Amino acid sequence: MNDQAPVRRRTVRVNEISTARMNDEKTQSQYQPYKDAAWGFVNHWYPALFSEELPEQAVEGIQIAGIPILLRRAAGKLYAIKDQCVHRGVRLSAKPTCFNDTSITCWYHGFNFDLASGVLNTIVANPDSKLIGKTGVTTYPVEEIAGMIFVFVREDDFPLEDVPPLAHDLPVRFPENNERFPHPLWPDAPGILDEGAVALGLHRTGQSNWRIACENGFDNAHILVHKDNAIVHAMDWVLPLGIVPDHEEPISLIEDEDGPKGMMQWLFTDRWKPILENPDLGLKIEGANSRFYRTSVVLPGCLMVENWPEDHVVQYEWYVPITDDLYEYWEVMVRICKTDDERKKFQYRFDNLYMPLCIRGFNDSDLYAREAMEEFYTDGTGWDDEQLVETDVSPVTWRKLASRWNRGIAKPGKGVTNATKTSSIRLRRLAQGKAPGYKVEKIENVNDY
Ligand code: FES
Ligand SMILES: [Fe+2]
Repeated sequence: MNDQAPVRRRTVRVNEISTARMNDEKTQSQYQPYKDAAWGFVNHWYPALFSEELPEQAVEGIQIAGIPILLRRAAGKLYAIKDQCVHRGVRLSAKPTCFNDTSITCWYHGFNFDLASGVLNTIVANPDSKLIGKTGVTTYPVEEIAGMIFVFVREDDFPLEDVPPLAHDLPVRFPENNERFPHPLWPDAPGILDEGAVALGLHRTGQSNWRIACENGFDNAHILVHKDNAIVHAMDWVLPLGIVPDHEEPISLIEDEDGPKGMMQWLFTDRWKPILENPDLGLKIEGANSRFYRTSVVLPGCLMVENWPEDHVVQYEWYVPITDDLYEYWEVMVRICKTDDERKKFQYRFDNLYMPLCIRGFNDSDLYAREAMEEFYTDGTGWDDEQLVETDVSPVTWRKLASRWNRGIAKPGKGVTNATKTSSIRLRRLAQGKAPGYKVEKIENVNDY
């Protein structure tokens, strides 16, 4: 009889977290604030609506980083206030009720708020209440440029005098940055703040955390998901299988005191190596036309893709947190149009090329890739368990700098739309086939049936 214990052989250890991963505990500790920012960063500028979504007298309700926000345009002025009545918490935008151009009235019991200051300035049926003038809702600074409305999403106690200019939350501009970030392969990228800038695009809701979406935007290995996209083949582009770092500083940090905080990736220089074949798998990229581009990202999560999808056009993207598992995906092309004719041509190219093949076709691949990652990260464990490699220097660099420079971490939304995943309202909407979204669902008039 053999009483020796059987020998167990193990050759490869699979499904364990390897110490060879890029993001060991020490690295992770440098971006803990980012890991805590499931609901986003606050005290930053975010795109809220396209101008055309808010005509004169319109009211819309949206939600950013768990904060409900109402936008109104009245007598040519734009206003943004907290979209949660101080009385019993309903969203004012659900049934807009305005008796003049300077205030909005809660449709439920008539609390009336001044749009500029947010102060409760009367109550429809209780004009002598001692609460009047003693409370109100937070207001948010607003800017409108190139056909887009931006809102500074602040915490209730963030001082208005400390609100930075919008340019501090937008990408670096050219030609000012030509020396610092030379780009010999393409013309200066236009900026959304430039004179004559026209922004055309789309925003839609994605079902993943905003950080997953944001990291996808500048992930240099993710371009594999685009290998079958129609635009790549229609244009006969050489789109690498991936791009790997090949230099000790493949990324430059943007940390000027008086400007945006972010990072620039030196793509299509000797600092990154495009991978065009993988002999082990018999893969080889072929194509006739080079498509040089460069990605950079700044807080609070604004991507710039220079020279994309064509010369003289730039693509901006924002990944605006709505809740911890929803974000509003903004895809915007910008071009400088000096004349009406140029504007018309840009619109035509947008409608017939960029929209169907880039914003829909190409970027749809990003949308499903982000959603495919969501389950792994949704309970927080993905951030600990992921095993990153050399190409992931991009998200790791971003996470560290976002941890250092964000102006505040959003608190989990309280008493707001989609904060309680199992609320009966959410479940009813889902049963009605309505996906959780960004805009308020307006209450229909009971007489409209
Ligand atoms: S909930 Fe707004 S007035 Fe009552
Ligand atoms: Fe992509």
